[in-house]
Amino acid sequence: MSTQETLDLLQKRIETELICPLKDAATNIVFGKGNPRADIVFIGEAPGQQEDLQGIPFVGRAGQELDKLLQGIGLSLDEVYICNILKYRPPKNRDPNMDEIKNHTPYLLEQIQIIKPKIIATLGNYSTKFVLGGFKPEGMKTIKGITTLHGTTQTVTLDGQPILVVPLFHPAAMLYNPRLRESLERDFLVMANILGLEIEQKQGQGTLGSFM
Ligand code: URA
Repeated sequence: MSTQETLDLLQKRIETELICPLKDAATNIVFGKGNPRADIVFIGEAPGQQEDLQGIPFVGRAGQELDKLLQGIGLSLDEVYICNILKYRPPKNRDPNMDEIKNHTPYLLEQIQIIKPKIIATLGNYSTKFVLGGFKPEGMKTIKGITTLHGTTQTVTLDGQPILVVPLFHPAAMLYNPRLRESLERDFLVMANILGLEIEQKQGQGTLGSFM
């Protein structure tokens, strides 16, 4: 069975077996997008309105920002996989609660175990705390916040394999606080260096132009 087929089966299982009030209120499951064989997985928080309507993560305003940041370091959707902590939208985009995180993250863990990334970029507090907390909701409270951890790297182990974790501010945060844009762009450069990407940046062009 291919990686995509294994992921499709996992999605079907969530659609049939997950019991969660978010599911009843949602239009669509928002499972994941990108290359299931990617070395790098981005994990966000939860679907918003556009994501719920289209059934695809990061297609709204935060998604447009994420696309620009990825393009800025020469990454396309073919080279990454993108998913969320929650697979269904919380009403009015409120923060995920602990019950929801406990219900949804066993599936996220399986998703990661299927894809087997070498790098996980966590977007915002929830995914950062979940991944660095040992992929366990109970571990989350021991982990510092994204304001402290962004742009630093740590290694976690999953199924005996090391995964490099790069915590990043959530792209939605810079829509509310434009001063975070600079940090996010710098942190993407940290990631680009890790990936060993050659960034061809002509002065004044692209998202990262001001740093090159
Ligand atoms: N914010 C997220 O965390 N995930 C999405 O899919 C969209 C916005």
